[in-house]
Amino acid sequence: MKQLFSPRADSRLRGVLIIGAAALVLLATAAFAWSRSGGAWNLGEPAAQPIPFSHAIHAGQIGLDCRYCHATVEDAAGAGMPTAETCLGCHSQVWNVGAQFAPLETALRLGTPVTWSSVHRLPEHVRFNHAAHIGAGVTCATCHGAVQEMPRTVKAETLSMGWCLDCHRDAPAARPVQHHGTEISELTNCSTCHR
Ligand code: HEC
Ligand code: HEC
Ligand code: HEC
Ligand code: HEC
Ligand code: HEC
Repeated sequence: MKQLFSPRADSRLRGVLIIGAAALVLLATAAFAWSRSGGAWNLGEPAAQPIPFSHAIHAGQIGLDCRYCHATVEDAAGAGMPTAETCLGCHSQVWNVGAQFAPLETALRLGTPVTWSSVHRLPEHVRFNHAAHIGAGVTCATCHGAVQEMPRTVKAETLSMGWCLDCHRDAPAARPVQHHGTEISELTNCSTCHR
């Protein structure tokens, strides 16, 4: 039978195939490494905000308590966000930085909340509760990092399922359940965190 490709073309084709396969493996490895690293979780990336708010100034320099602005953090699932009034209590007369505060004036006039962007939003299918964690003595910094040193708010931890579970596996079982005679913690059950 006549050869379809010359021996030269044949070896060239084989070379291309080997390089192609190697590139695919490399790409898959890189993608996996990236998904395990901080890059996939937006660590250290600030979000665009309507006002350039700084925790470093307000919680750091001035030393305001977190609860001054995140008032429901000890009592509810959500931490709560400051209203325009909370800011204008200080910024209407003194420390008025002018045009920067236009979004506050708008929110106040329309009676709407200020539209802060979140860097910590979990997917819809995950349930989280601040009050339960604060009540168990977990500090803000464990999950959010040194917020009082951040000029722009960024994510310090991945908040991935593996990250949550690392603590839940070791946490003292708040409500242990008997399972075939041994105590197991409810904290690692899928339904604790998933609706
Ligand atoms: C003067 C009010 C004020 C104080 C005090 C304050 N915050 Fe905030 N916080 C804000 C505002 C406004 C935002 C939204 C803008 C931003 O993310 O920077 C915010 C956002 C956050 C976010 C990100 C929320 C998200 O959806 O991603 C975290 C986490 C947070 N604050 C934690 C803290 C902690 C911890 C403290 C105490 C050390 C604190 N804050 C003190 C006003 C405040
Ligand atoms: C065990 C980890 C953990 C601790 C402790 C914790 N947070 Fe959070 N925080 C989260 C997670 C997770 C989210 C995202 C919640 C979501 O999307 O449902 C969040 C969201 C927020 C938000 C955005 C508003 C909201 O409720 O979704 C603010 C503000 C905030 N946290 C402030 C604080 C402050 C202040 C403290 C300490 C008093 C604190 N957090 C303690 C994990 C934690
Ligand atoms: C307890 C009083 C107080 C409250 C409440 C307060 N601030 Fe401030 N804010 C200050 C002071 C003091 C400064 C520093 C002014 C200076 O150094 O010129 C400041 C500075 C600022 C600046 C300028 C930051 C910069 O980089 O120069 C902005 C923007 C700002 N605040 C936004 C806000 C917002 C938004 C809120 C509500 C979430 C808020 N502030 C709540 C007292 C307050
Ligand atoms: C540093 C430790 C720690 C981390 C990190 C942590 N948790 Fe927890 N979590 C706890 C402890 C301790 C409790 C038990 C609180 C109690 O019931 O007294 C708890 C309880 C809960 C509960 C039950 C709350 C309720 O209503 O009783 C949920 C849901 C939950 N965690 C979700 C999460 C999710 C989602 C994450 C990750 C985004 C997370 N947790 C990260 C320590 C942690
Ligand atoms: C302590 C809280 C917690 C527990 C317990 C938990 N999860 Fe999750 N899970 C999360 C969080 C947070 C996310 C979102 C972040 C992520 O994708 O890692 C998530 C995401 C997921 C996803 C989506 C993954 C993706 O790639 O989008 C699936 C599927 C899932 N969990 C299944 C489970 C199953 C099955 C169990 C029980 C064996 C379980 N989870 C137990 C916190 C938890």
